[in-house]
Amino acid sequence: MAADTKPTQARTDTHWQRFSVPYEFPVVLTEGVFDPENPVLRDVLCRLEPAKRHRVVFFVDDGLNSGAVSLLDAITKYAERHSDVIELACAPVAVPGGEKIKSELHFVESLQQRLFDLHIDRHSYVVAVGGGAVLDAVGLIAATTHRGVRHIRIPTTVLAQNDSGVGVKNGVNLQGVKNFVGTFAPPFAVLNDLEFVMTLPDRDKIAGMAEAVKVALIRDAQFFGWIERHMDGLATFERSAMATMIRRCAELHMRQIGQGGDPFEAGSARPLDYGHWSAHKLESLTRHHVRHGEAVAIGMALDARYSVLSGLLAPGEEERICALLEYLGFDLWHPALAKSGANGEWAILEGLREFQEHLGGELSVTLLADIGVGVEVHEIDRERMRQAMHWLKDRAGG
Ligand SMILES: NC(=O)c1ccc[n+]([C@@H]2O[C@H](COP(=O)([O-])OP(=O)(O)OC[C@H]3O[C@@H](n4cnc5c(N)ncnc54)[C@H](O)[C@@H]3O)[C@@H](O)[C@H]2O)c1
Ligand SMILES: [Zn+2]
Repeated sequence: MAADTKPTQARTDTHWQRFSVPYEFPVVLTEGVFDPENPVLRDVLCRLEPAKRHRVVFFVDDGLNSGAVSLLDAITKYAERHSDVIELACAPVAVPGGEKIKSELHFVESLQQRLFDLHIDRHSYVVAVGGGAVLDAVGLIAATTHRGVRHIRIPTTVLAQNDSGVGVKNGVNLQGVKNFVGTFAPPFAVLNDLEFVMTLPDRDKIAGMAEAVKVALIRDAQFFGWIERHMDGLATFERSAMATMIRRCAELHMRQIGQGGDPFEAGSARPLDYGHWSAHKLESLTRHHVRHGEAVAIGMALDARYSVLSGLLAPGEEERICALLEYLGFDLWHPALAKSGANGEWAILEGLREFQEHLGGELSVTLLADIGVGVEVHEIDRERMRQAMHWLKDRAGG
C-alpha cells in the first residue's frame, strides 16, 4: 500500500448498551371460559389495573361459530355481565380459520385497519380465540400494532393448547413460505379451555397429539411411558386423558422456552423441532392437505429410524415409537413422500436445506439417543436418510 494512502487510525469509541427484560405471563387451564360465572378472563384482564374498565377486541376463528349458541354471542354476553371492567371496542369479529388467514398479507392489513379505526391503544387488549393459525396471525397483528398491544390467546385446538399457543412466536406466510413474516412476542396471557378441543373433528384431535409424543421423546421418558399406558384413553379421546396429555405437553413446552436458554431462538439448536424438517416439507408438498401434526408423526418415525441407523438409538425403539403413533391414529406414510425432486432425489430431502435456510446458521437436527433424550446433530448422511425412507415405505407396504 502506498504511504500516502495508509489509513489513519480510526477514532472508534464503542459503548455497550445492555438491559434485560423479564417476561412472565400466566397460562391458565379452565373450562367454559365464556361462561359468565367464570372469572378467569375477567381476572386476567384486570391483572395490572384492577380498577380500570378495559377496552377489548376479540378476533374469533370462524371455524368455531357453528354450535347452537354462537360463540360471538357468548363473548358479547360475557362482556355485558362484566361490563364494570370490560368494554367491547366492537362486537366480536369472526376471522377466517385455518391456514387461509396466514396465506395472504391483506388479512393482517385489514385487521390492523380495524384496530386503527377503533383507536386501539397500547393498553387495550386484542384477544385471539382460535386454532394455531388464527393465533399466529392475530399475534402478529397485536405485536406490530403500536409496536405491541396487550395480547391474550385462547387456543381452541389440541395443537394450539399444548404447543403453539403457549409459545412466544407468531407469523404469517409469504408466497407460500411458512411463517416468513413474524415476530417473537410473548403474550399477556394464555387461557386453555378443554371444552373447545372436545368439539374438534377427530382428525384434528389426533393431529395435535403428535406434539405431545414429540416433547416426550426429546425430554421426558416418563411422559412417554404415560402416553403408552394411556393410549387407549387417548385414542378414544377420553376427557381426562386428553386433559392430562395437554397439560403435561404444555408444561414441557413452557419449560423449554422459559429455561432452555434461548426463548427467541437466536442460536441454531431447535430441540422442539424434532421430526420437523421433513414435516415442513411434507406439508408444503401436499399444500397443507396433510396436517402439521400428521406430518410431524411421519417425520418423527423417519428420524427415529435414522437415529437407529446412526447407532444413537437402540434398535427396536423406532418400532416402539411407530407402534404408539399408529395406535393413536397416525398413518406413517403418505404418497407425497415418494415424489422426486429436481435431480431425481426424493423431494422430501430438500427439506433439510430449507430447514437450515429458515433457521440460519449451521444445520441443526434433533435425533434421539434414547426415549426421552434428544440430541442435536449438525450433519445428516443422505444415503442413511434414504435407507430410513425405504424402511418407512416398506414398513407401510407403500
Ligand atoms: N407459533 C408457533 O410457535 C407455532 C407452532 C406450531 C404450529 N404453528 C402454526 O399453527 C397452525 C396450525 O394450527 P392448528 O393445528 O391449531 O390448526 P388451524 O388453526 O389450522 O385450525 C384447523 C381448523 O380447525 C378449525 N377449528 C379451530 N378450533 C376449532 C374447534 N375447537 N372446533 C372445531 N374446529 C376448530 C379452524 O377453523 C380450522 O379450520 C399452523 O399455521 C402452524 O404453522 C405455530
Ligand atoms: Zn410442530
